[in-house]
Amino acid sequence: MSNRSIELDDRIHAYLMAVSLREDPIARRLRETTAAMPEHNMQIAPEQGQFMAMLVKLLGARRCIEVGVFTGYSSLLVAAALPPDGGIVACDISESHTAIARDFWQEAGVAERIDLRLGPAMETLADLLSAEGSNSFDFAFIDADKSHYDGYYESCLALVKSGGVVAIDNTLWHGTVADPGVTDRDTEAIRALNRKLHGDERIDLSLLPIGDGLTLCRKR
Ligand SMILES: C[S@@+](CC[C@H](N)C(=O)[O-])C[C@H]1O[C@@H](n2cnc3c(N)ncnc32)[C@H](O)[C@@H]1O
Repeated sequence: MSNRSIELDDRIHAYLMAVSLREDPIARRLRETTAAMPEHNMQIAPEQGQFMAMLVKLLGARRCIEVGVFTGYSSLLVAAALPPDGGIVACDISESHTAIARDFWQEAGVAERIDLRLGPAMETLADLLSAEGSNSFDFAFIDADKSHYDGYYESCLALVKSGGVVAIDNTLWHGTVADPGVTDRDTEAIRALNRKLHGDERIDLSLLPIGDGLTLCRKR
């Protein structure tokens, strides 16, 4: 019996993975390829990816946005969860990292569903708002530079429909958000957004202790 979330030590985490992770072999290979890169920690955890794919199916989402692609793991899983006529607008600034993503998307048969836009995501989201209008997407996932998180949230909230979800990654930021002694720019940006979301009447809210913290904002 418990009224708070369980702490995941290595043994419990290994058990959780053993009895619940169902990872596609191509997604697993992408994770192994990324693990050899110095920035590998930027990739979401596989159990988080599986949860997001489940969420996309529960929502019946068709049109999605991703802010922060890296080597394409989260976009691959979300794209695979979409119906055949679904699609993701995927935003990043790195040609080299997204080249790896493109190869794996192709291999997984989801490349046709992913519209990669290279350029600062604030500009891509502004372009999307003018081209598609507000309330035109079902799901958005924010996982890029933390200093722009508030701007990404506002743009994505405008772009998703009522009942749609904006999911924000790293909202526990390795626990530093809970330590008042840590005041670097990224930690302060996430802290400020977390405070704002808590009081934001435009959304229903849940911060899940999965991965590095995943906040779900359901647009009212
Ligand atoms: C944490 S990684 C994304 C991880 C990815 N979701 C995954 O599961 O593998 C963050 C990405 O944001 C991108 N990024 C950083 N600043 C950006 C900006 N201003 N506009 C768009 N993308 C940006 C980086 O190039 C990097 O690939």
